[in-house]
Amino acid sequence: TTVEWEAASYDMGGHDTYMHKEIHEQADAVDRVLRGRIDDRFSTVHLGGLNLDAREARQIRRVKILGCGTSYHAGLIGAQMIEELARIPADAEPASEFRYRNAVVDPDTLYIAVSQSGETYDVLAAVQELKRKGARVLGVVNVVGSAIAREADGGIYVHAGPEVCVVSTKCFTNTTVAFALLALHLGRTRDLSVRDGKRIIEGLRKLPGQIASVMEQEAEIEKLAQQYAEARSMLFIGRVRGYPVAREASLKLKEVSYIHAEAYPASELKHGPLALIEPALPTVAIVPDDDLLEKNRAAMEEIKARSGKILAVAHQHEEKADQTIVVPKNEDELDPILMGIPLQLLAYHTALALGRDIDKPRNLAKSVTVE
Ligand code: AGP
Repeated sequence: TTVEWEAASYDMGGHDTYMHKEIHEQADAVDRVLRGRIDDRFSTVHLGGLNLDAREARQIRRVKILGCGTSYHAGLIGAQMIEELARIPADAEPASEFRYRNAVVDPDTLYIAVSQSGETYDVLAAVQELKRKGARVLGVVNVVGSAIAREADGGIYVHAGPEVCVVSTKCFTNTTVAFALLALHLGRTRDLSVRDGKRIIEGLRKLPGQIASVMEQEAEIEKLAQQYAEARSMLFIGRVRGYPVAREASLKLKEVSYIHAEAYPASELKHGPLALIEPALPTVAIVPDDDLLEKNRAAMEEIKARSGKILAVAHQHEEKADQTIVVPKNEDELDPILMGIPLQLLAYHTALALGRDIDKPRNLAKSVTVE
């Protein structure tokens, strides 16, 4: 069975689809997830519902994040933020896989379940199995009072507001911001300096304005989408911070436009996917201006040398790419939050050009409450 949203009860606010409305709500949604949580005095954040005191936070040896689909991708970004800012080994895994592989459950690991709906069965079952084995589980959830939120020992509400479109957009973004807050909190409880704490807080505060400026590029992105709507398949590449962004952008495109898309770490191109490159297979490259910039440029050169077309999402115009969507630069650790947003617009306009059923793509349900 699936949980049916009463879509009619939510106002479309002048947008033609909920997806479009929800993409455009992101600056406000991010503002909401930050509100009341920043503590400038100690350059940290308060997360009231965490139920994890400082002593416990210092004892965590590992973090394991579990979720499905887009929430899993937000978890991949969250794991990198926790490793970078709190220096705790962290990784994300699809909850649907985790619950079937008799994983070793370790008392010093903090488990985090991520879910927009808070009702996804695979995530809920993973949480229940973990709790049965005595693990501590936090929830990063959107829907207040949902099953996963109730089952967890504590957590963070992502406050994205109701998300009606089956394809998740604003909730993904808010979940990545919630992870940045958690990473900052854990970091400042452990070894992250006041200076770095301040730097991250300043970056977080810039996000709503930067999201608004990405939205201003919609008309250009719409033109690009009209070209890409003709593609039969697309490749998305990124490395380290850019790779989960590529994965989520690839999922977004395939869900809503039905164009086949695949994401690969740019570093793995030469181990196989380069064989696919030809003019008919466009590549979207996530190219943040960080210490991997030159490596990403080299990957784009490899693709160009094989006559592949490239659309870059970058912090400045990229010469090696055929087209670039320029997004505002933030702190390196926070860059993934913004870089996926223009690609939500690309997926949306591609689906629109193809006449797809945007809010209810075929074969999908908003909340998967069955195995
Ligand atoms: C998102 O665009 C998808 N429709 C899907 O992958 C979704 O993220 C997944 O089913 C998990 O849902 P949840 O966040 O409500 O648990």
